[in-house]
Amino acid sequence: MCGIVGFIGKRQAAPVILDGLAKLEYRGYDSAGMAVFDGEKVNVTKAVGRLKVLEELTHGGETMPGTVGIGHTRWATHGVPNDVNSHPHCNRDKTITVVHNGIIENYIPLKNKLLKKGYDFVSETDTEVAAQLLDYYYNGNPLETILKVLHRIEGSYALGIMFADHPGEIFAARKGSPLIVGQSADGCFIASDVPAVLRYTRTVYFVAEQEVVRLEADHMHFYTMDEEEIEKEPTTIEWDADAAEKAGYEHFMLKEMYEQPKTVTDTLLPRLKKDRIEIEELGMSDDEIREVRKIHIVACGSAYHAGVTGKYVLEGLARIPVEVDLASEFRYRNPILEEGAMVIAVSQSGETADTLAAIREAKQRGFAVLGIVNVVGSSIAREADHVMYTWAGPEIAVATTKAYSAQLIALYLLAVKFACVKKTVDERMYRLLLRDLKRLPDQIELLLNNKEKIQHFANRYIGARDVFFIGRGIDYAISLEGSLKLKEISYIHSEAYAAGELKHGTISLIEEGTLVAAVLTQEKLYKKMISNMVEVRTRGAFVLAVTNEGNGDVKRAADYVIYIPETNQYFTNSLAIIPLQLFGYYISVGKGCDVDKPRNLAKSVTVE
Ligand code: M6R
Repeated sequence: MCGIVGFIGKRQAAPVILDGLAKLEYRGYDSAGMAVFDGEKVNVTKAVGRLKVLEELTHGGETMPGTVGIGHTRWATHGVPNDVNSHPHCNRDKTITVVHNGIIENYIPLKNKLLKKGYDFVSETDTEVAAQLLDYYYNGNPLETILKVLHRIEGSYALGIMFADHPGEIFAARKGSPLIVGQSADGCFIASDVPAVLRYTRTVYFVAEQEVVRLEADHMHFYTMDEEEIEKEPTTIEWDADAAEKAGYEHFMLKEMYEQPKTVTDTLLPRLKKDRIEIEELGMSDDEIREVRKIHIVACGSAYHAGVTGKYVLEGLARIPVEVDLASEFRYRNPILEEGAMVIAVSQSGETADTLAAIREAKQRGFAVLGIVNVVGSSIAREADHVMYTWAGPEIAVATTKAYSAQLIALYLLAVKFACVKKTVDERMYRLLLRDLKRLPDQIELLLNNKEKIQHFANRYIGARDVFFIGRGIDYAISLEGSLKLKEISYIHSEAYAAGELKHGTISLIEEGTLVAAVLTQEKLYKKMISNMVEVRTRGAFVLAVTNEGNGDVKRAADYVIYIPETNQYFTNSLAIIPLQLFGYYISVGKGCDVDKPRNLAKSVTVE
């Protein structure tokens, strides 16, 4: 959701910016632009559409000489995608240039004030208001002026700012939107995310909330909102730049699906010590775990679906009541949090605006929050009281796969740990659960290696109009995720239902040839599911079943069957999701959709 890259140093800025923006393409965008100082003035070039249009327009940056510049990929919020609304935005005499990710919520009153003062606006964006407001307050001291403006802006922002009369500096600031800065022997960088700068440096600083940075070619200065200079420790990025490249796979999504066995291992193994689960980062003693009366899980999208699975597993194994909320609902519904409540926020990016707000809501009420987060140093990782990282590495495809799988593992680990401490499972069962957890990576690999079967099946359904996913219990949770995977990347309408709900309305949508994907991995619900499948099949549905090995008689109710290897009933989601991910992927490929960057979507949703 909008990408920012800036550079100041010894290299030509434009190629560095283009290269960095390309690494941020996964965030989603509909136009791009950059501004480079050529020694006399700031030149701006913008282009609607893919980044390669901007690349062609500037001959890979050659037509924009200069060693200081900022660039942006825009995901439209205020105003349609066009050249005027694209960033960078400037003040009236083009001496102040701004790129912005986020939303300035009070931009209308600010704009009205500036209009009264004689300012004209060319775009419909909130960002142009920031550029003009900087102009209004500018007193020759960029830092002072930026702070004055930031104190007047409400909403969220990651900003890159250049002043033509201070050509040796770039300024950056953030509140609510992600931003990092990096330093190499050649210069200093700003970026929305680490992959944008990894080719040049591994030394990065995560810009904290309401921090301002002044970048020079060889130095960076960090300030609080009170203009106090602060010292910050750099982070050395350990993961390889290759981890953010396609490594020969056709799409990032395919590569990331194939990384799932490793992801699951990496999330699991550091927490298994001498065949016991130790989650040090939880920061809870056994007594404190025993005092947990209720768990609230907050998250969005697929992370929410992982939370729904978590509810079944935590309640089933540890017998702790769990409420799962969409973070966008939790933050506004005045939730009831009572003594003994524990709040868990799940997020891949660690930047999702609603999840961050839900955390703040819980903390404001005095409750500690555990973040299950993938991106190290992200906002949620910093704001949560404790962080359990999912070690999935960078996830680039908008449709999450490996991070989701890692979230499931983190939640299983918590459930088994809590169950052990609360003695809701005995030692024998505990050992069996650990054994089954450790088997998951190989079992996932096995399913991935049978991808042709799914590919073959998916090819038959490329023209589908509607697809329904049904399941009961924990299989309902995976139906939600299977349905989202399909619809977000193939644009086929799809819904997930708790199978018992079909007769309460949905079954009237079933007609000849409608595809129904039925997930049935729970022994105690197996017969009920078979009945539901027969019901839809009788009405003309084509039924795809995902079930456990050995359930041969499923064929009497299904037209096509995918078997998953045997595991504990609480862990089946980790296996059942693999064919569903592959199904969504192959349909999307078959339809010629942009698999990694589906329309209208962004990788991290940093605005409401
Ligand atoms: O970064 P987060 O995990 O907080 O993101 C939450 C959702 O936006 C995300 O899971 C989204 O639903 C995925 N694109 C689905 O594949």
